[in-house]
Amino acid sequence: MICLGIESTAHTFGAGIVTDKKQVLSNIRDVYTTKEGGIIPTRAAEHHVECFDKVIKKALETAQISLKDIDLIAFSQAPGIGHTLRIGAMAARALAVLEKKPLIGVNHCIAHLEIGRMITKAKDPVLLYVSGANTQIIAYEGGKYRIFGETLDGGLGNFLDQFARDLGLGFPGGPKVEELAKKGKRYIELPYVVKGMDASFGGILTNVKQKLKSGKYSKEDLCYSLQETVFAMIVETTERAMAHTGKNELLLGGGVACNKRLQQMCKKMCEERGAKCYILENQFNVDNGAQIAWLGLIMHKTGIKTRIEDAIINPYERTDDVEVKWRDKK
Ligand code: ATP
Ligand code: FE2
Repeated sequence: MICLGIESTAHTFGAGIVTDKKQVLSNIRDVYTTKEGGIIPTRAAEHHVECFDKVIKKALETAQISLKDIDLIAFSQAPGIGHTLRIGAMAARALAVLEKKPLIGVNHCIAHLEIGRMITKAKDPVLLYVSGANTQIIAYEGGKYRIFGETLDGGLGNFLDQFARDLGLGFPGGPKVEELAKKGKRYIELPYVVKGMDASFGGILTNVKQKLKSGKYSKEDLCYSLQETVFAMIVETTERAMAHTGKNELLLGGGVACNKRLQQMCKKMCEERGAKCYILENQFNVDNGAQIAWLGLIMHKTGIKTRIEDAIINPYERTDDVEVKWRDKK
């Protein structure tokens, strides 16, 4: 069985083709970026309108198949930016109707976890999902993927992007902050905001922006200190989630999971508690169509279907709203 997955929760329009034999035949993306400033939802949606046909065509060409060979069309139905989600849903609905293929809408956050289980040997991991808009610690418990800890304000990636914006760097800013951080030498004390299992980044952003404005600190030292602080915060809560759930596998997902320093800190934490740390190739960390296709496939196998009239977007769906019928109950 072959599934085409369409991703459009935010800045990325992605199309991935995956088989039920766990083969990723293609995984193509086109990302809306800016030289300065952040994502403007209407512009990101225009970007998706302009590139969706090219991305889907390229995914088919790379997989060396045609639309006729596709057995199922999956799309990211939730959560995300309404403007951009709508473009992916529209493309998926149009293809399903024209080609008479079954359609399935999936939850993007859960897709990050399931592609990790598909690609690695992880069986029942805790997922540290750190992207632009999301920062969640997710694990399977009692028939659902539950959120054991999360951000109390914005996602970690957006927070790094906002600081990068103040530094005069464009979007996405996370990779640029990472580069500058490598050159940092001095650790500057910043607020450390963990509340129970949750973390908050807003106050730290204000603090680091003030420090930048004061002119007393180098950009490199600020980026370095920022990464050390916020990564320590989420690694701390992740470790606590692992202890609480008794799970001994950690999986990283989301764009911020591409960060080598975060990866290193997660590996060290796992080593110290005798747990396994699974890190994916960058193409599966960032938003991508392959993960949507894979989750669509495993959901479809359990008989779940989305009727065309129900294929509307759900920008605010939470990870734990979804009934997980495709895993054994524990
Ligand atoms: P979602 O819809 O899942 O919230 P997203 O739209 O934010 O995801 P992703 O591709 O998962 O998209 O993540 C993008 C984020 O990842 C951006 O905020 C970007 O700055 C951040 N990022 C990418 N690479 C790195 C890196 N090396 N270090 C830190 N952050 C990074
Ligand atoms: Fe994502």
